[in-house]
Amino acid sequence: MSDKVIIFDTTLRDGEQSPGASMTKDEKVRIARQLERLKVDVIEAGFAASSEGDFQAISAVAAAVKDSIVCSLARANDKDITRAADALKAAKAKRIHAFLATSPLHMAVKLRMSPEEVLEQAKRSIRFARNLTQDIEFSAEDGYRSEMDFLCRVVEAVINEGASTINIPDTVGYATPELYGEFIKTLRTRVPNSDKAVWSVHCHNDLGMAVANSLAGVKIGGARQIECTINGLGERAGNTALEEIVMSLRTRKDYFDMVCGIDATQIVPASKLVSQITGFVVQPNKAVVGANAFAHTSGIHQDGILKNRDTYEIMRAEDVGWSANKIVLGKLSGRNAFKQRLQELGITVEAEADLNEAFTRFKTLADQKAEIFDEDIIAIMSDSAAAEEGEHYHFISLSQHSETGERPKSRVTFRMGDKEISSEAEGNGPVDASLNAIEVIAKSGAEQLLYSVNAITSGTQSQGEVTVRLAKGGRIVNGVGTDPDIIAASAKAYLSALNKLHDPSQAKLNAQMTP
Ligand code: KIV
Ligand code: ZN
Repeated sequence: MSDKVIIFDTTLRDGEQSPGASMTKDEKVRIARQLERLKVDVIEAGFAASSEGDFQAISAVAAAVKDSIVCSLARANDKDITRAADALKAAKAKRIHAFLATSPLHMAVKLRMSPEEVLEQAKRSIRFARNLTQDIEFSAEDGYRSEMDFLCRVVEAVINEGASTINIPDTVGYATPELYGEFIKTLRTRVPNSDKAVWSVHCHNDLGMAVANSLAGVKIGGARQIECTINGLGERAGNTALEEIVMSLRTRKDYFDMVCGIDATQIVPASKLVSQITGFVVQPNKAVVGANAFAHTSGIHQDGILKNRDTYEIMRAEDVGWSANKIVLGKLSGRNAFKQRLQELGITVEAEADLNEAFTRFKTLADQKAEIFDEDIIAIMSDSAAAEEGEHYHFISLSQHSETGERPKSRVTFRMGDKEISSEAEGNGPVDASLNAIEVIAKSGAEQLLYSVNAITSGTQSQGEVTVRLAKGGRIVNGVGTDPDIIAASAKAYLSALNKLHDPSQAKLNAQMTP
């Protein structure tokens, strides 16, 4: 029998640490539901002590998820661990994930603690967590750059205190596959009680080797849990991409001889949902989930594929959830057809009023655009979820004028609190003019870090999806807006980013930055 590898998804925690990727409570719940459909074993829903908003989001995920273990990160201290346990109260199965840095550099510079103090704190924290749950993970932050003798002592001690999973992160993405695999193997061989815990890998992608390192941690090192994120989302160059791990284990089962419980047909829907919610666009040539991952354009390849798919294809697009862009609904589709499609996409709308509101949005879109695809429906539901969360700013309408040789002008009407406001401005282009018109009233003073436009389906009749990234007072937020008119999409994206800046519960401590 092949060994099972536990898939621990940290899109909602490590992924959320990507600049601007912060998600609202409802967004986290929607992604968590999709992760559950994907059948991930563990969902790390956030870092409860980092903010009130994250605490509430973890509680909501814990209440919504039934089949996966729900986990919260915590620094290795009583206060954080208590907060994590409180946030997880409603979970059917819960895990507390405590971490403490063990590398000489992190202990001296970041923690300002001696190795003996770190050892004692690690033991104390796991002893404390043991009173709250049985399922405890300990992460030795910057584990790969730690001294082997010391790391062995820490790991042995926390297993004795009751840690059931031991995670050895390559926090800074410094490892290479063989060396990382050997590192895990040496630890497992030298720690006397190593068989009492599941060993886990957590790799960052700074040198582009996160997936290879994680797989080596399993194959060479004997780890049986991989921590990963959808689309490889994560700080800096990101984390280990879940879709690449799952498809490597599956496609090369002859080599790895391991299984995982993931339903691969849910991979592409998960990838699209995370991309649409966070505004982090997936590069076209990204393995498994990129738009070109299964496109065979060269003549030779097409010829081979027609004769026998195996000539150039090692995986099937349909096995990972790619389906040809289907026209699912149109102008004449009724409320029941819309509701049924939502169900097929796994989107639950509890209140009748919310369904009515989403259906009205669908009808408005169907008036603008003859063919409605799944991606359009996902975008409609993102807009509806944002409206439900009581946005401070809300787009109403826009008109603009641009002509070659003239400076474009825009007039935007939007709601701010309970007031409806119309504002006019000029700009370098129609988008600039529209955002200037909003800024004249909102006066956020935020710095624009990124503006990007992406078509959510193919062809010029697609809706444009715009991401705007803003920075203010040390916070970075992304706003996403979709509309068949990309100028309106831009205004929506800008207002969505302003909503995030306006919400103080979205200000978070970054786990790795704080002692
Ligand atoms: O990269 C890292 O070290 C982490 C830990 C907190 C698990 O994310
Ligand atoms: Zn990490």
